[in-house]
Amino acid sequence: MGGTTDPVDDEALLARLRAAPVLAGPLPPFDPDRAPDTPGPLFADWLDRALDDGVPEPGVVTLSTAGADGTPGARVLMLRGIDTADCAFRFASDSRSPKGSDLAANPQAALTWYWPAHGRQIRMAGPVDVLGEEPTRQDFLHRRDTSRAAGFTGVMSAPMSGPDEYERAHRSARRLVADEPGRVPATHTLYRLRAHEAEFWQADPARFHLRLRYRRAGHGWNRTLLWP
Ligand SMILES: Cc1cc2nc3c(=O)[nH]c(=O)nc-3n(C[C@H](O)[C@H](O)[C@H](O)COP(=O)(O)O)c2cc1C
Repeated sequence: MGGTTDPVDDEALLARLRAAPVLAGPLPPFDPDRAPDTPGPLFADWLDRALDDGVPEPGVVTLSTAGADGTPGARVLMLRGIDTADCAFRFASDSRSPKGSDLAANPQAALTWYWPAHGRQIRMAGPVDVLGEEPTRQDFLHRRDTSRAAGFTGVMSAPMSGPDEYERAHRSARRLVADEPGRVPATHTLYRLRAHEAEFWQADPARFHLRLRYRRAGHGWNRTLLWP
């Protein structure tokens, strides 16, 4: 590893960034007055529309966590399940990873989606719990062989010496998956974030952006528009 790189012209890079289009549209309409009383169906409606319109990878979402000392961490992962009625979202990871340690110490998190083609951001925040053995098994066993093999290689986010080490580990993991197709790594963990707060942000090319926030209140939800 290592090597030299040419110095970067930060100003030129910033100028190019400023010239790049943002929230260009055409963007879908959003009428908060007609939004449902609970956020789950609105999430489902926006996701449906994203899938219909071919928004790239709408299931990719940023998960933000903070450990016991408050240090934040964020990374993208795949949405692995939706409970629209309860506004809850599933994701999976290795419990030994930094996010796993964060969630063990502080089981609160935020999920953030951004779908540029629609100018839409969705934020969900709330407590996170760990789902039981059977849903976790199902989540793992529904994956492709290569993805399951990856689940048996190394400790996620631990230092690795190089691609050779990974290739060797993956080769033996592929054999293990072929020999024992029902096996699930002990640290494969399916998490559920149950939103206590949900926010839908709709861009407008004329910059009349709309923000609609839902907060759980008793058995229902409060809805509020926020200044953009
Ligand atoms: C498109 C995409 C999808 C990903 N999906 C997952 C996932 O479902 N679960 C996961 O643990 N990591 C996933 N990752 C990797 C994470 O972004 C991250 O690198 C890894 O989970 C380690 O994070 P941590 O060190 O903060 O725990 C994905 C990465 C990308 C770019």
